[in-house]
Amino acid sequence: MDLFEYQARDLFEKHGVPVLAGAVATTPEEAHNAAAKIGGKVVVKAQVKVGGRGKAGGVKLAENAEDAKAKAAAILGMDIKGHIVGKVMIAQAAPIAEEYYLAILLDRSNRTFLVMASVAGGMDIESVAHETPEKLAKVAVNSNEGISKELALKIVKAGQFPQEVAEQVADVLLLLWGVFTSEDATLVEVNPLVKTSDGRIIALDGKITLDDNADFRHPDHEALVDHSATDPLEALAKEKNLNYVKLDGEVGIIGNGAGLVMSTLDVVAYAGEKFGGVKPANFLDIGGGASAQVMADGLSIILSDKEVKSVFVNVFGGITSCDAVANGIVQALEILGDAATKPIVVRLDGNNVLEGRRILTSAAHPLIQQLDTMDGAAARAAELAAK
Ligand SMILES: Nc1ncnc2c1ncn2[C@@H]1O[C@H](COP(=O)(O)OP(=O)(O)OP(=O)(O)O)[C@@H](O)[C@H]1O
Ligand SMILES: [Mg+2]
Repeated sequence: MDLFEYQARDLFEKHGVPVLAGAVATTPEEAHNAAAKIGGKVVVKAQVKVGGRGKAGGVKLAENAEDAKAKAAAILGMDIKGHIVGKVMIAQAAPIAEEYYLAILLDRSNRTFLVMASVAGGMDIESVAHETPEKLAKVAVNSNEGISKELALKIVKAGQFPQEVAEQVADVLLLLWGVFTSEDATLVEVNPLVKTSDGRIIALDGKITLDDNADFRHPDHEALVDHSATDPLEALAKEKNLNYVKLDGEVGIIGNGAGLVMSTLDVVAYAGEKFGGVKPANFLDIGGGASAQVMADGLSIILSDKEVKSVFVNVFGGITSCDAVANGIVQALEILGDAATKPIVVRLDGNNVLEGRRILTSAAHPLIQQLDTMDGAAARAAELAAK
């Protein structure tokens, strides 16, 4: 999960990383009040989970609370690379002398952690990385050893930081390492880390990505989830432990195993070309143990998507055999009752397929149509969706 800047700021503060006063606002009035409370000059910053906000006009200096209100009114609702700004952060303005860059990330390809440090931070760090890579130090960090003060000082030196701030920047790096490890992050980036005109080192912008695999260790991370951005059906599916992704077509897809579901998407999209460009409406993987309840949960999620015109259940029986899946489908339709209204094309193959097909045939549910091949079933589902 990527965090908003204001959430990163709060985590920084919690772990002692030096930050400035900041508050989040969703209306110009709230921005006014936040700015008045902070006092003096403030910076109004678009809160979107995408880089390059400053260059897109999403970061503006405001002279006072009244000005902050006007700047917030201009920034709220702005479209930054497809992200509509719904919140702004009002941050105390810093007297900036220099802008640096520090980041800690999980370097998957080298199976290590990596620190990147540069004295040439700020909004052009991407071009620094491309055009003058020697200005961006990259130092691997052994996950067992972590970052010691000694290593932190070495990294700061490699990043060519001036001697007078080396000690302070190294301390901030250690604090950031604390954020990275204790919050189970895969990215902690500060750009810019600034030196103020009175010589303090402050994190002015933060990006944090939390490792969702470690969620169980962090009950407090739940509060950081941005529910406004998740599709309600995706949220429901997550609650039921289903892998569901909403797409924009008309054929609902249920399969077991991500590989099978992905190829089902391809086959349906291909078959749909003959029926005016019908496409998959979602990706739903019910995984290995497709119990009746799991099938019912999956079907009910897909059937409640208004865009769905037909459903294609494509299952290859393995450890969970086809008869178990067929029973699951029949029971799911009993559970759903009148809530099931759209035609469901089923293709079963694999372990115990004949018994599975027999169960569906004898159930003779009016919504179910069986086909033996994946291509045939995909074409039928696409045809039904086009009607
Ligand atoms: N609190 C602040 N006080 C003074 N200047 C600031 C403050 N916050 C940001 N700035 C200035 O605005 C510039 C851009 O801000 P910031 O780094 O937050 O956005 P960005 O880099 O454009 O966004 P992103 O990191 O998402 O690409 C900074 O490099 C800095 O010069
Ligand atoms: Mg930045």
